[in-house]
Amino acid sequence: MDRRGPTRGRKSLMRRVVTFGSMAVVALFALAACGDDTSRYSSLSPRSDVADDIQGIYKLIFWLALVVFIGVQFAIVYTALRYRRRKEDGTRPPQIHGNKTLEIVWTIIPAIVLLVIFIPTVRVMYDHADSAKDGDVVVEVYAKQWWWEVHYPGMGTPDKDGNATPLLTANEIHVPAGKKIQIKLYSNNVIHSFYVPQLSGKMDVMPGHENVIGFTADEPGVYYGECAEFCGDSHAWMRFQVVVEPQEQYDAWVTAMNTAPAAAAATYGTNDTGLITPPASFGLCLACHRVGGTTAQFAPVGLNQASELEGGADGPAKSAGPNLGLFGCRTTIGAGIIPNTLEDLKAWLRDPGAIKPGNYMANVVKAGTLNEQQVDEIARFLLSLVPEGGCGEITNATDSVNNSLPVGADSVPAATPGAAATPAS
Ligand code: CUA
Repeated sequence: MDRRGPTRGRKSLMRRVVTFGSMAVVALFALAACGDDTSRYSSLSPRSDVADDIQGIYKLIFWLALVVFIGVQFAIVYTALRYRRRKEDGTRPPQIHGNKTLEIVWTIIPAIVLLVIFIPTVRVMYDHADSAKDGDVVVEVYAKQWWWEVHYPGMGTPDKDGNATPLLTANEIHVPAGKKIQIKLYSNNVIHSFYVPQLSGKMDVMPGHENVIGFTADEPGVYYGECAEFCGDSHAWMRFQVVVEPQEQYDAWVTAMNTAPAAAAATYGTNDTGLITPPASFGLCLACHRVGGTTAQFAPVGLNQASELEGGADGPAKSAGPNLGLFGCRTTIGAGIIPNTLEDLKAWLRDPGAIKPGNYMANVVKAGTLNEQQVDEIARFLLSLVPEGGCGEITNATDSVNNSLPVGADSVPAATPGAAATPAS
């Protein structure tokens, strides 16, 4: 005998469905709350106008997907329990195959959902492409294997004929807060992808093609970026930082980058135009590295592949290495792989291939290539490249190494910029 009766059975079924559903909804809200993520690699904590727009689209899609998910789960659970096979009732539930109303409903609802996602997405894409067409500050970024060369067109020290030159740096991109930044992307090797999750979406860096992104970041800070397209051995170590700083600090950085550091000039001497003359042991480095403020100005830059030391474009092709201007203020070595301290720098110079797999410097500098005295001399020279008054106003990036940790700021060993910057006496 059936003691439950049909009405009572359906009520208890609904209760179970509602209980299950409520638990699922609570779990989802708990997950959504975890989305308040302050990691510097997180795309969920936007810090620019462009990243805010992307976050807006993300939220729209998330909530719509949540509604669809809950609806579908309720329907599945309800149907499975309501129409399950019962011992007492062997009859099949009513078959609704080919029900025209249902077919129309579940075609129209997804179409509406997709339209609600599609329209704002396309609008944001066109807005971003439009706004990236110009900027208050233009920065050219050249993706290399596996680091980033940064040019500020026309902002370098004019050459001896008075022509404008670009200001060059690498892996740490300084930009002023509150200004519209345009970043032009170039590659002369393989396809990379420029990605600073808190400031912008991903943008491919294509050989033979200029891609452009733009953003305005109001909040000073250090934002982490990485290459987001597999590009060879050390793709995972192709990191960089965007240092957003108040206009005065940015101006001070530009000035410092165009000034030969006084202490290093006093230690190493200068040529007749005031450029620092690196120690003799640095000779091996000249073909690949330019160093702002010094006479090391021969290495290929931008899309060029050939060193002027080796006869320029007609000479044997050399790989460019990062410009090392104001190296004492850099926070990392090898595009984010180790902190920039005297000991770490020496370890790098002894055997760079042991630290960063596949890097091109390891083709020239192997274990034993440089003796201890040369290693020490080069390391102290590079770390002495610090502006008068130190790096404090120039960068506040102190936690950029080992940034695979979920929340960078407090949980990583701090690299102290310029800490080891006392030149050898
Ligand atoms: Cu460059 Cu991956």
